Formats: sequence, structure tokens, C-alpha cells
Amino acid sequence: MSAIEVLGLSKNYNRTAAVSDLNMTVPANTCFGFLGPNGAGKTTTMKMLVGLTIPTRGSATVLGYDIIKSMNEIRERIGYLPEFAPKPNERALNFLVMLARVNSPYSRATLKSQAKDALEQVELWEIRNKKVSKFSMGMFRKWLIAQALMGNPELLFLDEPTANLDPMARLDILNLITKLKKERTVFLNSHVLPEVERVVDHVGIINKGSLVIESTLKQLRSRMKKSKASYLIVSSNNEGIMKSLEERKVVDNVQLGDEGVRVLTPSREKLWVALTEIYAETGITVTEFKEIGKDLEDIFLSIMEEEKS
Ligand SMILES: Nc1ncnc2c1ncn2[C@@H]1O[C@H](COP(=O)(O)OP(=O)(O)O)[C@@H](O)[C@H]1O
Ligand SMILES: [Mg+2]
Repeated sequence: MSAIEVLGLSKNYNRTAAVSDLNMTVPANTCFGFLGPNGAGKTTTMKMLVGLTIPTRGSATVLGYDIIKSMNEIRERIGYLPEFAPKPNERALNFLVMLARVNSPYSRATLKSQAKDALEQVELWEIRNKKVSKFSMGMFRKWLIAQALMGNPELLFLDEPTANLDPMARLDILNLITKLKKERTVFLNSHVLPEVERVVDHVGIINKGSLVIESTLKQLRSRMKKSKASYLIVSSNNEGIMKSLEERKVVDNVQLGDEGVRVLTPSREKLWVALTEIYAETGITVTEFKEIGKDLEDIFLSIMEEEKS
């Protein structure tokens, strides 16, 4: 069964077509990564699915309910992490209960027990009496996820859950998502593709309001196998190698990093020949040469290039 069916969904803001005729299916009990660059239409799509903005055209069902006719039924069954939220100057547990009381028919005691469960899931129960305004970004993101987990929803919407976090906090959130997706469907937005690669099973890629591709991560990887890959080259003169490779035009993308030179190329053989020639001409020796695989970022860039041509 599918958790979400999107049918020709469109949203215009004045003259901007934020989302255009979007069609896609999100399978139940998977982690679906809705990916694309900034301004692609990810947040707008999510807001339509959770009832925060009304579509200009088209429709969708969430857990079998129509987003136009049955938003109340949907709201009872989903959780939503917004992309941006202010830090409240309130205590973690109390404020979860207060927020929930605004829309919930449940008693205070029930909500308190839901909040306990949610805070335990994100491992903030120990500091439930701390003020949220004193939380680090990582803790605050977890608190926001706890707010989305109130009532243990079967579908979680997470808008950029890993954005603006330090590497440790990001890993913490990814581990949390890995745990949460075992028991429910997770639909997450991200513009930083390698960050979510570890947790997503399915991907939908959106660009300029339109869906570019929808597939499992596995299919996407095998589709890209024949095309470009990234390599790391460490040499006696990384800057020299970089300049020589750029002059020869054998690689599509060259970046100088801390560890060495990172390149993207469709042909390992041509790259190797070029490195040999560079050695003959300049005496720069290669001390390490390895494929660092195709991460989602490379795949994403390749797809965008294919779409253009
Ligand atoms: N409230 C709004 N008013 C006007 N334009 C908007 C609004 N929200 C989003 N947009 C525009 O719609 C497009 C898609 O934005 P958004 O859905 O936020 O993309 P993403 O989340 O992928 O970065 C962008 O061009 C953005 O400027
Ligand atoms: Mg967004």
C-alpha cells in the first residue's frame, strides 16, 4: 500500500510556479527522500500534504485520505517537522503538552504521557525540565522531532531534518531517523544529498517544481553505474595535478580538498592515461588513486546534466 499518492499537484505563488503538475507515489513503511536544490518546491509540496497551504490545482491522498476533503483525519495520523521554527523560552516537557493542547481532544494526562514517550524516543527525557531556548541546535532539532512524534503517528514529515547541524548532531539525527523509520513511513526533504543517503530507501528528485526522477535508491545507483564516478588523487603536487587535468579536459569536475584532488569522470582509463602523461611532462607523482564511489550528489548532478541534454 502507498502512504502518499500525489496527483497533478500544483502551487503557484503569484507568477511563481513553486510546484507544477507533480505526480508521485510514496510507498508505506519506507523512508522516502524528497530531494532537490534550494527553491525546487520541496517545502511547498510538504506544506500542501500537511495542510499548511492549499494547492492551486491537483490533489493528493495521505494515508488514503484526500488532502482537500479530509485534512482533519490526516492531521490525527501524521507528525510534521517544519524547516524553520523559533526556539521557545519554555520548558521542554511543559511546552510539548501546551502546544498539543491547542488542537488536541485528549486530556492533559494523556498528552503528558504522549510527551513522555516522544521525549524518550529522542532521548531528551532526562532534560525535560530544561528550557528549549537553552538547547543546542541538535537538541532543539530533536525536541522538534519529539513534537512531531506526539501521539506516535504512522507517517512523519521531516523538512530538512539535518540542515545546519554540526557533524556529530547530524549523525545523531540520522541515527534517530534510522530508528524511527523501522516503525513508520518517513517522508523527508533535503537539499544536501549525501547527508541523507544513509537513511533513504526511495528517492524523488524535484527541480524547478517538477519531478525529475522517482525510484529506489538501489535502482538509482545501478542506473548510474555505467556513468561517471568520483576519484581521489593524492600526489606530490596536488595543485599542479589539478591545473594539468583542467587543461587536458579529461575530467568534468575537479576540486582541490584537504586530502587531495577530487575529480568526476566517465572514464577511469582516460584519467589514468592523463596522469601518466602528466608525470612524464612535469614529474608529479601520484601516491594514491582510488574510486570514492558515486554518492548521491554525483548521481544528482549527472541526472541534472542528462535532463539538460
Ligand atoms: N510563501 C511564498 N510566497 C511566494 N513564493 C514562495 C513562497 N514559498 C515558496 N515560494 C517560492 O516557491 C519556490 C519553491 O520554494 P520551496 O518550496 O520553499 O522550495 P525548497 O523547499 O525546495 O527550497 C521558490 O521559488 C520560492 O521562492
Ligand atoms: Mg525547503
